[in-house]
Amino acid sequence: ESESTTTIIVVGASGDLAKKKIFPALFALFYEECLPKHFTIFGFARSKMTDADLRCIIGRTLTCRIDKRQNCSEKMEQFLGRCFYHAGQYNSEDDFAELHEKLKKHEVGRISNRLFYLSTPPDIFIDAVKNASNSASSANGWTRVIVEKPFGRDSDSSAALTKGLKQYLKEEQIFRIDHYLGKELVENLSVLRFSNLIFEPLWSRQYIRNVQLIFSEDFGTEGRGGYFDNYGIIRDIMQNHLLQILALFAMEAPVSLDAEHIRNEKVKVLRSMKLLKLEDVVIGQYKRHTRGGMTYPGYTDDKTVPKNSLTPTFAAACLFIDNARWDGVPFLMKAGKALCNRRAEIRVQFRHVPGNLYKGSLGTDLDLATNELVIRVQPDEAIYLKINNKIPGLGMRLDRSTLNLHYAARYSKEIPDAYERLLLDAIEGERRLFIRSDELDAAWRLFTPLLKELEEKKIAPELYPYGGRGPVGAHYLAAKYNVRWGDLS
Ligand code: BG6
Repeated sequence: ESESTTTIIVVGASGDLAKKKIFPALFALFYEECLPKHFTIFGFARSKMTDADLRCIIGRTLTCRIDKRQNCSEKMEQFLGRCFYHAGQYNSEDDFAELHEKLKKHEVGRISNRLFYLSTPPDIFIDAVKNASNSASSANGWTRVIVEKPFGRDSDSSAALTKGLKQYLKEEQIFRIDHYLGKELVENLSVLRFSNLIFEPLWSRQYIRNVQLIFSEDFGTEGRGGYFDNYGIIRDIMQNHLLQILALFAMEAPVSLDAEHIRNEKVKVLRSMKLLKLEDVVIGQYKRHTRGGMTYPGYTDDKTVPKNSLTPTFAAACLFIDNARWDGVPFLMKAGKALCNRRAEIRVQFRHVPGNLYKGSLGTDLDLATNELVIRVQPDEAIYLKINNKIPGLGMRLDRSTLNLHYAARYSKEIPDAYERLLLDAIEGERRLFIRSDELDAAWRLFTPLLKELEEKKIAPELYPYGGRGPVGAHYLAAKYNVRWGDLS
C-alpha cells in the first residue's frame, strides 16, 4: 500500500460544502497522520483559478481545531503544498481527460487510487460521473465516488439517479454519504446496544413506551432557501438523517460488523415500517418574529424563496415498525429550523413500573415519572439515564436524578467532525457508514406517498415564530399516542 498513491478529487471545489467541510476534514486527517503516505488533493470546478488561488481559498477555511495550543501553520503549509486545481466543465470529457493527464504526472507510475468527491448540485452528478469514469478513472488501482444528498426527490427520481450512476459505476464504487452516520454518538449506538448486557434485553415493545428522534436548529435557511424550497425539512432531515438513526436504533443484531451484514439489518427494519399517513404528520413553517428589539426573518422573507411557498421548515411525524420487536411502539420524529435551540438527540421513554411500591413518594407531578434514556448527539455529546432516586435523609421522598456520561468530562480528546470519519472510511474502502442503494430505496418508499399527498393537497404548514418551540400541532400529535416530547417537558 505504501507504494500506491491516492488522489482525492473534489469536484465542485469552490462550493460551500467543500470549503466548510471537505477541505478542513482532509486537513484534520492529514494532521492526525491518517492520510496515505502518497496523497494528492485536486480541486475541480468551473471557475478559472490557479493552484495558488485554490490554496488561498482553502487556507482561509483551515483552523487548528485539533490542537488549539499548537501553532500548526507548518502543517498547513505542507498540506496546502499537496493541493492542486484543475478548471473544467462538468460535462466535458476533454476537461476530465486533461485532469487525467495531470493526475498521471503526480502518480509517477505508482498504483493509483482515485476518490472523486461530488460536491456539486445533483443535476450534474451523472455528467460528472460519466466523465470521471470514462476519462479519468484509475488504470491500475481503485476508483471510488462519494455522492451526497439530495439523492432525488422521491422514489422515482431517486431510482433514476441510481440507475444513471450504475451505468458507469459498480455499487461498490459508490459511497453515498449521510453525514449523521459519521457522528460519534450515532456510531456509538451499536456499541451501546450490543456490547452492554443491560440495554438489549430492554430494547423492545415490552419495556419501551416510545422513541423520539429530535433535530432542531436555531437558525433558518439563511441563503440556502433556493435549495431548501425544492426539498423541505422532510427530505432534508427526516428521510435521511433521522431515519438512519432510527434504523440503527431499531435493527436486529447484525451477523457481524461487516458492512453488508449491518446494512442488511438496516434495510430489513426500514422495509418493516408502515407507510406514513397524513394524519400522523404535522408540518410547520417559521414566520417573522420580533423579540428583544430584534426582528428575525420569516422563511418567505428569504429572497430566494417564493412568497407563497408551502415548503415545511418543521415537521413532526409518528412512525411504526411492523415487526415482533416494535409492534405498536410510536417512533416520533421532529425536525425543525429556526427553533429555540440547536440539538440532535434520541430519547427513549420506558414503560411504567408495574405495581410501583413508591407511588406517592414522588412529588405529585412526578408520580408517573418513568425512566428515560437520552443520547445527545450534539451539541455537548452525552448519554444519560433518568432514574427515580431517594432524596438522602430520614424521610422517604424520591426525586428524578440522572446517571450521566458527559463526553466533555469523561474524554479529553476532541470529537472528530463526521466528515473526517467518512472520508477516512471511503479512502480505506470501509462501507459500513455509507448508504446502500436498497436502503435508499426503502427510505424513499416510506416517505414518497406522504410527500406526494402533502404537495397535491397543498397542505398549508402551521406558522410558528422564529426562535420559538415550533407548532403546537406537534404536541397534539404526540398526545394522540399518549406521549410527551421529552425535550420540552
Ligand atoms: C444537512 C442539511 O444535511 O444537515 C442542513 O441539508 C442541515 O439543512 C445540516 O443544516 C445539519 O447538519 P449538522 O451536522 O450541522 O447537524
